[in-house]
This record gives sequence, structure tokens and C-alpha cells, in this order.
Amino acid sequence: MNPLVIIIFGSTGDLATRKLLPAVAKLHAQHQIPDDVCIVALGRRDFDTAAYWRHVISHTQQPGDIESIKSHVVYRQIDLETCNDYDALGAWLDDHVDKHATRLFYLALDPGLFPVVARHLNASRLVEQGNVSHAVVFEKPFGHDLASARSVNQLLWTFFDEQQIYRIDHYLGKEMIQNIMMVRFANRIFEEIWHNRGIKSVKIIAKETEGVLGRGGYYDASGALRDMVQSHLLQMLSLIAMDVPLSYRSEDVKNEKVKVLEKLSFDKHALLVGQYEGYTSEANIPDTSRTETFVFLKTFVNTPRFKGVPFYLMTGKKLDEKASLITIEFEETNEQRKWNLPLSTNKLHIKIAPEDGVGLVLNSKVPGLRDNVEQVELEYCIACHAVGNMSEAYEKLLLDIYEGHKTLFTRWDEIETAWSFIDKVGQHQDKPMVYRTYDELRQAIMALTDEEM
Ligand code: BG6
Repeated sequence: MNPLVIIIFGSTGDLATRKLLPAVAKLHAQHQIPDDVCIVALGRRDFDTAAYWRHVISHTQQPGDIESIKSHVVYRQIDLETCNDYDALGAWLDDHVDKHATRLFYLALDPGLFPVVARHLNASRLVEQGNVSHAVVFEKPFGHDLASARSVNQLLWTFFDEQQIYRIDHYLGKEMIQNIMMVRFANRIFEEIWHNRGIKSVKIIAKETEGVLGRGGYYDASGALRDMVQSHLLQMLSLIAMDVPLSYRSEDVKNEKVKVLEKLSFDKHALLVGQYEGYTSEANIPDTSRTETFVFLKTFVNTPRFKGVPFYLMTGKKLDEKASLITIEFEETNEQRKWNLPLSTNKLHIKIAPEDGVGLVLNSKVPGLRDNVEQVELEYCIACHAVGNMSEAYEKLLLDIYEGHKTLFTRWDEIETAWSFIDKVGQHQDKPMVYRTYDELRQAIMALTDEEM
């Protein structure tokens, strides 16, 4: 294994303490990364390593699980605007870390800070442009519209090569999202009917029960459409709708995903935005905010494969349950129509969270003397079969960066085409409907589209 150093900018924040460090600890415990991995935690606060670790322990949800990497962590204070701090970090790495080590720079920072950090990483030669063992990792959001995303990206390309840039969409690290291609392409029963003659509709849903959880400042400038649809929901949609890639290789898969995003349209009369009651009383949200915390959208993928099939996208906060789910509804059989049986359609549920798995809804005769029919669901629950072995999204993503696999990271043209679609939708956004319960939204959707969500 090549030696590894992980340098985390923003190491005192939630992402680092709650997701990244536990993921590194798990990879380390499973010997997926080198035993002597070095983790350099960077932050503005005047901590020493011991004080930093106390901070981590008080913020992480699994203090016991991360204890094993304690001795691998070094905290260093940094002023992001000061060149000398980057040079000093470089000198420290030269003294303490193998010079051929994989350097993984993780920017767990406000995106507004990407430009300054990227510039300094390049100027100090902490990241040598073109050296693929120097990786730079960015979290969304990549801009807030197409124009701003383009300018951030242009800037990154002046300092790093595309192979060195990893843009994280953490949904792509979720087990069931990775499984979509397998379910589609490795099962004849699905692959042969995966088109507009076999599929009636697709629903892509990400419901949350929490509100903005102290992220008011960021969220209010973003809203559900830009925060969730632009990234996670469109990623799911493109995996469901893409044509068969030339190969399983990252570039081939991305080429197909981009073609889907380029062909997206939406029905402006079937667009609903909502804002949960009490949103404007949250911290850092202006009283007059019209930011949506819920969005429902009817889209179409205008490719020969899917032309005419509605793809319903829905996501929101403070809803009735936490559930991320894709439902593929299949067409009725000819016999179902001919015999006029009171049968429902087959459905494939791709369950992403809270439980991951697959469910297939079939029609079946109710056992007994009468010819009654019922819907039954064949279910496969991944966690039930992988006890103690389930990896979290960030584990998979960090391991892939270390190993240089890019399939689960978004390429620039995916982001670009997603933004140009979202910008168009945004132009048709009305004042959001204030909602207290999910049921109010469900009824409003029914009134717009006749669709039961
Ligand atoms: C993030 C969004 O990308 O995804 C958050 O910024 C959202 O607003 C979160 O809550 C949902 O992720 P998960 O993994 O909890 O479904």
C-alpha cells in the first residue's frame, strides 16, 4: 500500500468530526488504508493536538470507534489567507511523511473559501499540478447557479488537473446507489423492460424529518432545489435513465449520465415549492425569506429510451419520515388490461435510506377458495445480510480517492448540465406554500398532477 496522508481543512467542523474521522477510523481498522496513515487536522482555532482530540470526542457520535486513530492525528493551526502557513505545512510534511505518499487534501470548508485555499495549495506546491497522487477533494455546493459553478471550476482547473479533483456527492457513496447499475444491468428481468414501453413512471424521493439544523445561513441561499435536486436527485435520475454504457468504467458511465441530463425537461405546471412553518424563525433566516424547503417537480427524459415517461422528483425537510427511495412503476401486462382484473402495477422499490435494499411488488392470488388478488412485496434488505459489514458512504468515497477510482465522483459536465437545468426550473419558482404536515403537500401534488406521492 502506498503511504497516505490525509490533510483536512475545516477539521473542527461537523463533517470532519461526524463523518470523515469515523470513516478513516473504520478503514484503518479494516486495514484498507496503511496502518501508519497520517491525518493532519487543520483549523483556525488555537488548539494543540490534545485539545483538538477532546473537541472531536465531544462532537462525534461514535467516540469509541475513532479512538484507534488518535495517535495518527496531528492538529495544526492555519490561517487560510497566509502563504507562510501553507509553506510551513509543506515543510512539516517533508519532514514527517514519505515524499511519495498519497496526499489527500479534503476541503471540508465553506465553498466561498475554495478559491483562496486552491490558490495557496498550488502556489506552495503542496499539490503539484498533474501529480495524481496529490488529490483535492471538494464537497458540494459547487456554486449556486451555472455561472458561479463555472467560475469556481475554471479556477480549479488553473491550479489542478481534472484527474486530481474529486467532487463529492455523498449520495453516490451510499450502498444502494452503487447498486443501481447492478440491479439494472445484471438482471435480465429488468434490463429488458427498462424503457418507455415497460416503465410507466419513476419517482425519486428524499424526505427528511429534520429542519435546517443550524445551517440556516447556507440553506437560505440555496433551498431544496439547489441543495438536493441539483445534486443528489439528479444523480439518481441519471443512473436510472442512462443508456447502457460502453463499459463499467468511470468515463463511459459519466458520458451516459450527461446525455440524460442534457435531455431533461420539466412541466412548469407540475412544480410545487413549499416552506415549513417556522422556517423564518430559525437562526440566520430572514423573516421575509421565500426559500423553499420542499420541492416537487415532474420531469421528462427526452431520450428514445424514456421519452414520455414522467420522472417525479420530490424532496423536503420537516416531512413525515426520513426516507430516500426510488420507485419504478411498470406498465400493466396485456392480460391485465384484457381481463380487466383489479390488479395493480408491478413496482421496483430501490430503498436508499434509512434501510437500504430492494423491494419488488407483485400481484398474487390471495390463498383460499376465492379468486381474490393481493399485492405482495419481495424484499431484500442489505443491512440484514451484512451485519457489522455495512460501510458508510464516506468510507467508500475516501477509499476510492486513495485508490484513484473516480466513478463515484461527479465530473464537471455532470454538474454543468445539472445546473443549467436547475437554473431553468428556478425561473418558474413561485412563492412557496407554507406547510405544517406532509399531508398538505401530498394533497397539493394530487391537485396538480393526480399523482399519489
Ligand atoms: C446534504 C444536504 O447534501 O444532504 C442536506 O445539504 C441534507 O440539506 C443531506 O440534509 C441529506 O443527506 P442524508 O445522507 O442524510 O440523506
